[in-house]
Amino acid sequence: MKRGIGYGGDYNPEQWPESTWPEDVRLMTEAGVNLVTVGVFSWSRLQPAPGELTAGWLDRVLDLLGEAGIGVDLGTGTASPPAWLVTAHPEILPVTVDGQRLAFGARQSYCPSAPAFRAAAVDLAGRMAERYAGHPAVVMWHVGNEYGCHVPACYCEISAAAFRDWLRDRYGEIGALNDAWGGAFWSQDYRDWDQVQPPRTAPTFGNPAQQLDFARFSSGELLSLYRAEREAIAKPAQHAPVTTNFMGFHRAADQFRWAADLDVASVNCYPDPADPESYLLSAMTYDLTRSVARLTGSPRRSWVLMEQAPSAVNWRPVNVPKAPGQYRALSLQAVARGSDDVLCFQWRAAAAGAEKFHSGMLPHAGTDSRTWREVTALGADLGRLAPVAGTEVRAEVALLHDWESWWALETDCHPSRLWLVELLRAFYRPLFEAGVNVDFAHPESDLSGYRLVVVPALYLVSDAGAENVRRFAADGGTVLVSFFSAIVDPHERVRLGGYPAPWRELLGLRVEEFAPLPEGVTVRLEGAAGDDRGVVSAAVAGAVGRVWQDVIGLRGAEPLSAYAEGHLAGQPAATRHAYGSGEAFYLGTLPDRATLRDLLGQACGHAGIEFRTDVPPGVEVVRRGGYRFVISHLDQPVDLNLGGTSVDLLTSGIVGPSAVLGPRGVLVLTARD
Ligand code: GAL
Ligand code: ZN
Repeated sequence: MKRGIGYGGDYNPEQWPESTWPEDVRLMTEAGVNLVTVGVFSWSRLQPAPGELTAGWLDRVLDLLGEAGIGVDLGTGTASPPAWLVTAHPEILPVTVDGQRLAFGARQSYCPSAPAFRAAAVDLAGRMAERYAGHPAVVMWHVGNEYGCHVPACYCEISAAAFRDWLRDRYGEIGALNDAWGGAFWSQDYRDWDQVQPPRTAPTFGNPAQQLDFARFSSGELLSLYRAEREAIAKPAQHAPVTTNFMGFHRAADQFRWAADLDVASVNCYPDPADPESYLLSAMTYDLTRSVARLTGSPRRSWVLMEQAPSAVNWRPVNVPKAPGQYRALSLQAVARGSDDVLCFQWRAAAAGAEKFHSGMLPHAGTDSRTWREVTALGADLGRLAPVAGTEVRAEVALLHDWESWWALETDCHPSRLWLVELLRAFYRPLFEAGVNVDFAHPESDLSGYRLVVVPALYLVSDAGAENVRRFAADGGTVLVSFFSAIVDPHERVRLGGYPAPWRELLGLRVEEFAPLPEGVTVRLEGAAGDDRGVVSAAVAGAVGRVWQDVIGLRGAEPLSAYAEGHLAGQPAATRHAYGSGEAFYLGTLPDRATLRDLLGQACGHAGIEFRTDVPPGVEVVRRGGYRFVISHLDQPVDLNLGGTSVDLLTSGIVGPSAVLGPRGVLVLTARD
């Protein structure tokens, strides 16, 4: 039904009188909408009481949409249980880490492990699939919604029992659990499984291995709930792909583990328009989703931007609208980074409920509004981009990312508090600015397609992951590893003998001690004396480090820069080491932006990757298939040197070699023939 790039949003017709539906469909057609998500939060209207579906209204909605040629991504309706289910089974209400049971009256009021919730969700999903599997409008299934968004983990007694079962499966006998969790410490040995609890609020720092296992368990519980619903729809609905919408860099769901159970990867992304660099986090989110898409059950090149706001959201303390052109620029950013579907939350801005001040494609003001004009203009633009659909984004750089390491990194009692997303962003930024495509890869995944692997604070690594990275370098790859990587094993147990134990040979060094820097404190860095290969650039010469200092002893690596002050003065801060037929860079501190850019430029140069230094700040250049997207995130016009002439797919005009791109302007360049 749908061709080219999909366009649309969440459509909640049950929140409106039926008389508005024909107008919705007419305006959708006017805006170029060809795909809408229906039914995600409709449980109380689909099943006002246990039993049969009361879905005549949905039949009529799907028929209307289908007749207009608008495809439907159909929700299983299970994202929020109705009051009757909660009343009959109060035990499904989730419990926080402090032991507080969360009341009905918002959404996602369920414990993922509660049998009564699972049974009801599976029942509803199955009934939906039986009724709508053959419907011509249904082109995709949308299971649940944002798993773990509000309730990333539940600490109730049902969850506690399920956690014990999970631990029994994992460890077999209680002694193995005591070994894995370091039970000798603070007298935490267990004699019996019944003594084991989720890591609830305790007098002081909880056991980190217990917290890590609970995070694994909790992601797994959400996944098994998703799987149960997916199975319920699989048979009747097998003609249409199944997805659930992730939240990008969100801790609750380990997307690399979930991927195989999805046919299509999809994501919701809400960059804050008040953040001048919001486009960086959205770019990272899209690259992550593309990387997850490759691992799905039916590996696809493309992915779905399931939700974004046409303008403001309602859930920040201050909700700034998108600037003129920002909706378009961020939508085309998603297409540039591999999405074939650009959807919003939501079609018609709500008049009631907690989200009534969230923007909609059709705002409260109606069609005589800036938002509507931008919405229809984007529909036309996406129509012009149809040839881009299905083309591939190729990346030569992988940033390693692992949810398990993330969970472990952000437990307390570490040398310093490190926030993974901030670190990932620091390493991603210079690559983004240089027009380098980046994937996110699990440490144990196949790295052979990459030339450069960047490893920011991969605190926890398995033996297999460590070996995978080592082999990548031995076989000729370039790696760039940061401080606090490969410190612990999957039980959160320190790998002894000097850090990072599995990579000491690879890096040609040994870290003896950590010397983190207090917040806001920097340390000057200087180029290593006697360096004559030009690696000490101007940027490095003016450099500072922040956040962290490793005390590095060289074992074959050569210093690239050294601490220039403090008690580590003269000792190496960054190094490189030839290893096998590859090269390994190491960073013992977090350098300022210019220095990190310089180092990543060197690493890319070594790996034979084009690292552009001529892209104006705030402008993004991304290659997808045979197209080059040039996207300005700036408020003012910017001069570009495009290096030659090309055809802009958006205007069919010829542009270049020089061009002026207006505020938040976009070019989609294709070779001239
Ligand atoms: C998402 C959610 C939507 C809507 C939206 C508002 O988290 O999936 O249902 O609440 O946020 O921004
Ligand atoms: Zn629970």
